[in-house]
Amino acid sequence: NEEIHEALAPISWLSGRWVTEDGKGHYPTLKDFQYHEELEFICIGQPMFNYISTSRHPETKKPMHQERGFLRINPGTHDLAFLISHNFGLTSLEEGACDPEKKEIKLVTANVSRASFSKPPYVKNFKRELRLLQPDTLEVILYMETDNTPLSEHLTAIYKKV
Ligand code: HEM
Repeated sequence: NEEIHEALAPISWLSGRWVTEDGKGHYPTLKDFQYHEELEFICIGQPMFNYISTSRHPETKKPMHQERGFLRINPGTHDLAFLISHNFGLTSLEEGACDPEKKEIKLVTANVSRASFSKPPYVKNFKRELRLLQPDTLEVILYMETDNTPLSEHLTAIYKKV
């Protein structure tokens, strides 16, 4: 790994590549499902992680949801901004903070926008929690609200560092 920018010290534990040990999807309107996902948080010298997520169907390995973006820290603070473009026609800005003692990050969307022709329902907002359970084990939970469904859990995943 390249050197991690000093401003990222409060979230340096996220650095690297992570692969799901267990990825579960759920939502009031959906049948429960499983998925496989790889995450990358890579610092190339700036006070941010470059972020890549690619999820796949666990059996067919067909690509599913993808995210590309940047997890920025306001240097000298614990404040975070997560800017993401999603392959299904959405962009989002999440804001929040990290707790360096608990090794935990909590983010809430400040803004979501969608392409005019993306499929309904509309995502109104979502919340994301990332938490280091062990030095090599990460948990991510995502809740979302659509125009049909109040804020409900959509994803719960456990990743191992690779
Ligand atoms: C369905 C949003 C991440 C898999 C949906 C729906 C929305 C949504 C709005 C439709 C819900 C409904 O019909 O009521 C999001 C957002 C995500 C995200 C905002 C990230 C911020 C993921 C990831 C996966 C995934 C990482 C992993 C594979 C699915 C599946 C469905 C679904 C399988 C059902 C699709 C269908 O029935 O056509 N998601 N999703 N989502 N999502 Fe996600």
